Amino acid sequence: MTALLESIRRKAKKAYKHIVLAEGEEERIIVAASRIADLQMARITLIGDEKVISAKCPDVDLKGVEIFNPKTHDLSKYSDLLYELRKSKGLEKSDAQKLVLNPLYLGVLMVKCGDADGMVAGSVNATGDVLRPALQIIKTAPGINTVSSCFIMVLPEFSKYGENGIMVFGDCAVNPNPTAEQLADIAIASASSAKSIAGISPKVAMLSFSTKGSAKGELVDKVQQAVEIAHKAAPDLALDGELQLDAAIVESVAKLKAPSSKIAGHANVLIFPDLQAGNIGYKLVQRLAGAEAVGPICQGFNKPVNDLSRGCSADDVVNVVAMTALQAMN
Ligand code: ACO
Repeated sequence: MTALLESIRRKAKKAYKHIVLAEGEEERIIVAASRIADLQMARITLIGDEKVISAKCPDVDLKGVEIFNPKTHDLSKYSDLLYELRKSKGLEKSDAQKLVLNPLYLGVLMVKCGDADGMVAGSVNATGDVLRPALQIIKTAPGINTVSSCFIMVLPEFSKYGENGIMVFGDCAVNPNPTAEQLADIAIASASSAKSIAGISPKVAMLSFSTKGSAKGELVDKVQQAVEIAHKAAPDLALDGELQLDAAIVESVAKLKAPSSKIAGHANVLIFPDLQAGNIGYKLVQRLAGAEAVGPICQGFNKPVNDLSRGCSADDVVNVVAMTALQAMN
């Protein structure tokens, strides 16, 4: 395990938050819950049926792990809350009573009403299905209009890039085609995650195929507008753009292409102009450079909800729970 993940787990243990795992009947989730309880890293609630859980993993010790079985609990508190929150969107009471049986809705409702500090799911559900209930119910934090995501990229040892080989990439998982305002939100939120979770001092580059007007067109205009909006919204944030990737991270190229920029050549938070670029970009660095991609970390929610990769291991679940606990603490 990398030093970064060890440190995230240590901090989570100190915070000892209550995290609900909505896919409580999935084997990797059950194993992860047991490990988290063993590490005393968080209070865990699995949503699921006790009998199914023990039949799936008869040898896993779940001492200290709570199980919330939707079939045997009174869910009216949650369906009433859901109805109140969504009736203006046309949700009927009877729909709310059905929706709370979906563990992804139930989990975020538990977080919304303070019965848990955060939720993690996505081992058997697609990203959109995990995020939609949270977008509808948890909503964004005050002052933020966009939920987005970032990855902490832990580059191979002795990397000359990032801060001690650590970089943050956003948005790689949520917003397919962000507006300039959303790009600015993504930049500010990614900088905050860089500080609070990755423990680095953010230097943000807004990426494009153009550096400081070297190319023209509406795609470039959008990134330039995002830079302006971000500067206004977060005047103290070290942020610059638009920058090509080489100008953002290679000092010699930065001297040629953006000599007056304080960020160019030293960026450690890279903001991609859309989801195609961001998703492809992080996977390229992960696969070709052998970087560890920690995330996706969802950012901008009023309370933390995180999405797992469907290929995740039990250990990955432990790490995402740790990061969720840190977000709950912050
Ligand atoms: N930030 C804040 N609010 C949002 C956002 C956002 N980014 N996106 C949607 N919302 C709000 C909407 O305004 C709406 O609010 P309302 O119902 O109260 O009016 C609510 O959330 C639901 O919106 P929908 O339009 O129903 O949701 P949508 O179908 O657009 O889904 C989602 C949103 C799930 C984030 C979608 O954009 C999506 O699927 N993104 C891509 C996810 C993906 O496939 N990623 C790649 C794989 S992940 C990986 O490889 C690591």
